Amino acid sequence: MKRAKKTRVVLGVTGSIAAYKAAELARYMMKRGCVVRVVMSESAEQFISPLTFESLTGQPVARSFWEETQPGAIGHIALADWADVVLVAPATADTIAKAAYGFSDSPLLAVLLATKAPIVIAPAMNVNMFEHSQTQENIHNLQARGVMFVTPESGDLACGWKGRGRLAQPAEIYHHVRRAVTPQDLRGKRVVISTGPTREAIDPVRFISNRSSGKMGLSLAVEAFHRGAEVTLVHGPLSGSPKLPSLIRTISITSADEMRSAVLTTLGRDPAHHAPDIMIMAAAVADYRPEIESDQKIKKSNAPLNIQLVSNPDILKEVGEIKGTHERPFLVGFAVETGDTEKLLSEAKRKLEAKNADLLVGNLAQDSFDKDTNKVLIVSKGGNAEEIDTARKSLIAKRIFDTVATNTRSQS
Ligand code: CTP
Repeated sequence: MKRAKKTRVVLGVTGSIAAYKAAELARYMMKRGCVVRVVMSESAEQFISPLTFESLTGQPVARSFWEETQPGAIGHIALADWADVVLVAPATADTIAKAAYGFSDSPLLAVLLATKAPIVIAPAMNVNMFEHSQTQENIHNLQARGVMFVTPESGDLACGWKGRGRLAQPAEIYHHVRRAVTPQDLRGKRVVISTGPTREAIDPVRFISNRSSGKMGLSLAVEAFHRGAEVTLVHGPLSGSPKLPSLIRTISITSADEMRSAVLTTLGRDPAHHAPDIMIMAAAVADYRPEIESDQKIKKSNAPLNIQLVSNPDILKEVGEIKGTHERPFLVGFAVETGDTEKLLSEAKRKLEAKNADLLVGNLAQDSFDKDTNKVLIVSKGGNAEEIDTARKSLIAKRIFDTVATNTRSQS
């Protein structure tokens, strides 16, 4: 199998108490296919030793203008050119201010000025310094130049204050790094994704549900975020607690009825809710619910128990029935089947028509449920079917959005 090209990250570490967290961050990124080269500010060395980063990354650490790491090369320019992305984590108020005003009196600042690669900054500082209008103005100015910021977390700060200022988690920072190096073909687009199972209550302790893990929809949400979209994820109960980018808006629901309300609300008739451009229904919505939900636990008896089931609304079909192109998002449905590929293809085609979707992704239950991988067929309106062989759900998500992009381009 062809190996994916490694992402080249220049990691700038500045003098914050959070500097030690940059070591974990470097490892986190390396585990996910990045090569990391560290540039340290002088004050960062008061908090963590360059040797730590040198040992972890296996790369020399840039510390001063006068200690060139490659003979004949101008260290900071070579680094600026080498980078696919420059990440500053943690970034102090001082570094942010200097970067905003174009100072270049340290190797890191010089890299920030010289690089053509995207820049991501993850601040960490005292809450009052972070909220100070000067810092906010500096952040705003850098954002206006395309620099991406990872909002710090709220909590107890090393200085004794409580508030926003803690360095964001490695997963959160890494999602921004991925977004920075991914072509932004969904920038400005609103994407709504439904995922996971629904639960239909029988009584206060029992429900009807299915084996869906929600992983396919989670991968789709992350992929859309990396491609620059504004993402809303409507999800049923999920196994585990996935580390989604905090900028993904999540709406947690339990029943099919709740999922329907949440999905229809995102279509928004009022100006506070902007209608989505793309909607992907990856949820395994329960087709039936008990007609009566008992408000007391149903007690055991020797007689057979009959539970009358009634149909749930078909959410995908309802969205597909919206008339006119104005409010109708580009609509992607899923079909889960048992049986063979032939049946999958014919059912995917049938559901595409029946629910008036623009694309239908078919997968077999045995290939997808509770797995990190999937194998799918993507059927488009003209009847064209693209087969994607077994791959990680993150890669399947990428291929689905590639097909969405091709189809939306041909529609506009
Ligand atoms: N779907 C939905 N609302 C439902 C049932 C399904 O929105 N009540 C959506 C799913 O999210 C999926 C598509 O419809 O995008 C197809 O779902 P699937 O379970 O494969 O098919 P069904 O329409 O339920 O038909 P069947 O169970 O008979 O195969």
